[in-house]
Amino acid sequence: MDSKRLIELAALATEASGCTKCALAESRTQVVFASGHPNSSLMIVGEAPGQNEDEQGLPFVGRSGDLLDELLEMIGLDRKNVYITNVVKCRPPKNRDPKPEEIEACKPYLRDQVPLVDPTVVVTLGNFATKLLLPTEEGITKVRGRSYEWWARWLVPTYHPAAALRGGAKVKDLMQADFWEVRRLLDSVEPTKATSD
Ligand code: URA
Ligand code: SF4
Repeated sequence: MDSKRLIELAALATEASGCTKCALAESRTQVVFASGHPNSSLMIVGEAPGQNEDEQGLPFVGRSGDLLDELLEMIGLDRKNVYITNVVKCRPPKNRDPKPEEIEACKPYLRDQVPLVDPTVVVTLGNFATKLLLPTEEGITKVRGRSYEWWARWLVPTYHPAAALRGGAKVKDLMQADFWEVRRLLDSVEPTKATSD
C-alpha cells in the first residue's frame, strides 16, 4: 500500500476519534473506527458497535465477532488480514438501531474508507450495511445469495452474525454459502493484495 493512503486512513481514524457529528457521541465510551489490515482485499461492514466493542474500541469482539472469525477461518482468512468496520462508528445506547440521521452523519467515514483500503470484495452484514451500500429497498433475505458488481468491486450481502446467533443452523448455513462466494471471488482476481500472510 502506498504510504500516502496509509497516512490518509490514519488521519481519518484520528479525525473520527473525536467526532461529535451525531448524538451517539454523547453516550459512547469511544469511537470504534475499524480493525485489521489497511490494504486488505476484503472489507467487512457491520452495523454498529455493541457494548464489548464500545469498551474495547474494536469491532466485532463479542459473540457476533466469534461467529465472524469462524466464517473467515472457514475460507482460510484470519481477521488480522481483513479490514473490519461498521456503518456507524459509535455504539447506540442499549444497542438500539442506528437512526437515519446518525447513519447519514457517519456515512462520509465509510465513503472514504472504501477507496483508501481499496478492497476487491466488500461484505455487508445485515440490512443496515446492505441498504446503505447497495442500495436497495429489499431485505437481506431477498438480496443475499449472490454477488453484485459495485463500483468496480464485488459486494456480497449476507446476514448479520447476530441473526445467525438468533436464527440457528439454517441462517449460519446460508452465511457459510455467502462466505464461500467471497472465497471464490477473491480467488478469481489477481492475488496482488493482502488477504494472506
Ligand atoms: N455488531 C456489529 O454490527 N458490529 C460490531 O462491531 C459488533 C457487533
Ligand atoms: Fe461521529 Fe459516526 Fe460517532 Fe456519529 S456515529 S459521532 S458521526 S463517528
